[in-house]
Amino acid sequence: KAPAPRIFCGTNELDITHAAAALRSGQLVAFPTETVYGLGANALDPSSVSRIFEAKGRPSDNPLIVHVSSLGDISRYRLTPPLPPIALRLAASFWPGPLTMVLPLSRHARLAAAVTAGLPSVAIRIPKHPIAAALLAKAAIPIAAPSANLSGRPSPTTAHHVLQDLRDRIYGIVDGGKLQAEQCGLESTVVDLTDPTLPTILRPGAVSKLQLEAVAELPFSCPKVSSLKPKAPGMKYRHYAPKPTMRLVSTGIEDQISMLLKDGKKVGLLADEMICDKWRKVDGVAVVPCGKHGSTDSFAQELYGALRAFDGEGEKAVEYVDMIIAVPPSNVVDGIGEAVMNRLRKAAAGGDLKS
Ligand code: TXA
Ligand code: MG
Repeated sequence: KAPAPRIFCGTNELDITHAAAALRSGQLVAFPTETVYGLGANALDPSSVSRIFEAKGRPSDNPLIVHVSSLGDISRYRLTPPLPPIALRLAASFWPGPLTMVLPLSRHARLAAAVTAGLPSVAIRIPKHPIAAALLAKAAIPIAAPSANLSGRPSPTTAHHVLQDLRDRIYGIVDGGKLQAEQCGLESTVVDLTDPTLPTILRPGAVSKLQLEAVAELPFSCPKVSSLKPKAPGMKYRHYAPKPTMRLVSTGIEDQISMLLKDGKKVGLLADEMICDKWRKVDGVAVVPCGKHGSTDSFAQELYGALRAFDGEGEKAVEYVDMIIAVPPSNVVDGIGEAVMNRLRKAAAGGDLKS
């Protein structure tokens, strides 16, 4: 049996030094970012990068995001040709932060080929979380890091989620403690800038379309999932899905639940704390509260933990249910609201989105 992973304390400088050294030497180390936990590997080293795909059970055609400390690193490792003005403007406004830019891959890039899964582009992010930033600065290499979950499971927002999925498969975890208020709990916004005149949002996140357009002074398109095949390989795979079937319901919650109960079904309710309180004592209903009423931010922060609760994980774990009724937060116009809806729809669609 593999040894338990080392737990590094994210606020201890010596621990960060050890974690950085482990990454440099080719080990897999998970670490917190302001979005979700990443599973880090030395992006310059082919064998550590291949370990990421193995540990996650990730299809090899799904490329990884390269995390760096600064714009200087992008030229230092020759990841891309000189950045187009739109990328520089977005970087100035949103880096460090929850934005990933897909840019043309330079022929001279010092990157393990598997990172980009053979695509002519590379995804790059400069994270803002102080622990991620400290780790990247200390490691002084580009770090390839997908979300630190098993492929197909919800992304991890706590060190515990990472252990649950990857305990026997990684060298260590940097524990970031509880999510901070400004952390978002959903993966970064991914934009495709390979054609700088036709910027595209491949994955919605905390940085919104409006914010991007205001800075870029260009419209961004948002292709349908079904047409993303060649662009964002990751979007075609099953994601975020808990084991039970999930249905999104924003009106007529009572009717839906009563109908299921009448059929003798066990119902799971994923909704904000206020809605859950109303159903807590009803027989046949298992509630998993997710966020405060009226706060899309807190819903986003708790969503992945809530989905995991339906698989029996964590403090909010519930017994088997036949069907999850998920009630989206009510005001979902902004970036994080759109991202929440995107993740909920995917979790509800279930199955393989490949077709
Ligand atoms: O917030 C995040 O982005 C987290 C943290 C750890 O940084 N990372 C993350 O990585 O969510 P991952 O691997 O779970 O999702 C990366 C997404 C996938 O959908 C992948 O297909 C897409 O980015 N991607 C990566 N490189 C790409 C490329 N060259 N072209 C198009 N899409 C790319
Ligand atoms: Mg992921």
